[in-house]
Amino acid sequence: MSTKPLTGHETPGDPCCIVVFGASGDLTKRKLMPALYNLKALKLLPENFALIGVAVTESNDDQYREKITSDIKQFATREVDNAEWDDFAKRSYYLSGDFNSPDTFKNLSLKIAEIQKQWALPGNILFYLAVAPSFFGKVVEQLSLVGLTTESDDAWKRIIIEKPFGHDLASARALNATLSERVKESQIYRIDHYLGKETVQNIMVFRFGNSVFEPIWNRRYIDYVQITVGEQLGVELRGGYYDQSGVTRDMVQNHILSVLSLVAMEPPASISGDSVRNEKVKVLEAIRPMEPEEILANTVRGQYGPGIIDGKTVPGYRSEPNVNPLSNTETFVAMKLMVENWRWADVPFFIRSGKRLAAHTTQIVIGFRRTPLLLFGKDVEDNIMPNRLVIHVQPDEGITMDIHAKRPGPRVAIANVPLDFSYKDFGETSAATGYETLLYDCMIGDMTLFHRYDSVDASWRIVDPILDVWQALHPRDFPNYAAGTWGPEAADKLIEKSGHSWHHYFLNK
Ligand SMILES: NC(=O)c1ccc[n+]([C@@H]2O[C@H](COP(=O)([O-])OP(=O)(O)OC[C@H]3O[C@@H](n4cnc5c(N)ncnc54)[C@H](OP(=O)(O)O)[C@@H]3O)[C@@H](O)[C@H]2O)c1
Repeated sequence: MSTKPLTGHETPGDPCCIVVFGASGDLTKRKLMPALYNLKALKLLPENFALIGVAVTESNDDQYREKITSDIKQFATREVDNAEWDDFAKRSYYLSGDFNSPDTFKNLSLKIAEIQKQWALPGNILFYLAVAPSFFGKVVEQLSLVGLTTESDDAWKRIIIEKPFGHDLASARALNATLSERVKESQIYRIDHYLGKETVQNIMVFRFGNSVFEPIWNRRYIDYVQITVGEQLGVELRGGYYDQSGVTRDMVQNHILSVLSLVAMEPPASISGDSVRNEKVKVLEAIRPMEPEEILANTVRGQYGPGIIDGKTVPGYRSEPNVNPLSNTETFVAMKLMVENWRWADVPFFIRSGKRLAAHTTQIVIGFRRTPLLLFGKDVEDNIMPNRLVIHVQPDEGITMDIHAKRPGPRVAIANVPLDFSYKDFGETSAATGYETLLYDCMIGDMTLFHRYDSVDASWRIVDPILDVWQALHPRDFPNYAAGTWGPEAADKLIEKSGHSWHHYFLNK
């Protein structure tokens, strides 16, 4: 696993053919193609590769090359070098076909064989399923029926599957059963682009690469953990999808629980492969699914009404395009979760996420306990917050540690001062989409940052009972927060009951 920005000093991925299902989709043009181009620019895409885009729209290789060339101009995150891009484009092909039709896969098999011959490619194939979840099982099934998923000693076949993996526990299990009939777990790369972010990967380096933090990373010294994923955006053009999903499925089940497990896991035996995934799943298994009365006490859901963001009035969720005007879908969630193991017993993990909040920010706050003895007088002590460590994931990436220092002057007065580290200080990061590391890791066969099925199952087991209770009890107060705020008041009350409050930290402000 790459634990620092990819620089191009790494060895390129294995020569392979990359097949992107959903070649004309939003994800492909905005993220995948720019990420593949960045890998090429960093010399991390194998020199010998070819790409085949598959989608239903009629088109041909030349038209597809024109399309991706125009898209890359719009969505590249670095300046496009013409020679590099020309090589990329000339190795790119298009196959039009319906995923529902077995002929598409027969044609794909022929096209792959032709292109492998033309470029003298080995048998390695990376399939990227940038398609609606309803196609995940179908595409894998058809690929296996035409023999495209069969591996040999010198030819791997890997499948990257986008989120969401299931709509609930039952559908996740059904999808997994379909996939595992056709391919091995070691061929399935369930992607979570959050885990491609530098700062998220840095959680492991920070915890296990520094000797000072691990000894205090437990219930003796840590009072609480907060994870906030706040978006200022509304549902944009994704109302149709979002209204069926909601923030708990969209954010908590995958990204937030995965980040939480990185924060809380035991040190793994090694930093790659299954060691990390073994430790992550143990954390999720230590979060006991809540009983209905615990759900009512420890969770809050919300939906935004109209409000003001950046000085502009924005509509409420129920007035967004493709959203049911009577929708009960939650656009905000806050929860108190307990990780019931020796390291974390009694330490609350507060998580919250929402759309149309007051700021666009993802941050993890680790709150330490107060010092055991008050030495400086009650007035001084009352005014200082216990130490906090903030891991900023986005938009700014970095780490802040709040410490206490004496204000200059004859009297003892204490102030909180931040020790700030910003990723910008490394000076070597290049703008990236967040997909580069993950695509690269797939090409070198490193599954560390991809979800293994047991962790998907464990996180659905946490979330499913909550969604069931909410489904049974329709919210009576929606919309219950104005766009541009930090969510419903009930979220503040939830955390205040435990003697805490939500923190909002911003780097460089
Ligand atoms: N967009 C994002 O930022 C984002 C972020 C995270 C995860 N995801 C996940 O990524 C996946 C793709 O999302 P998206 O936003 O890129 O979707 P999208 O823009 O709707 O693209 C869907 C793609 O699938 C193709 N397609 C649809 N029906 C087909 C059929 N019957 N046969 C063949 N091709 C068909 C479309 O081809 P035509 O254009 O030819 O119709 C298009 O290329 C979803 O699972 C989504 O949840 C997306």
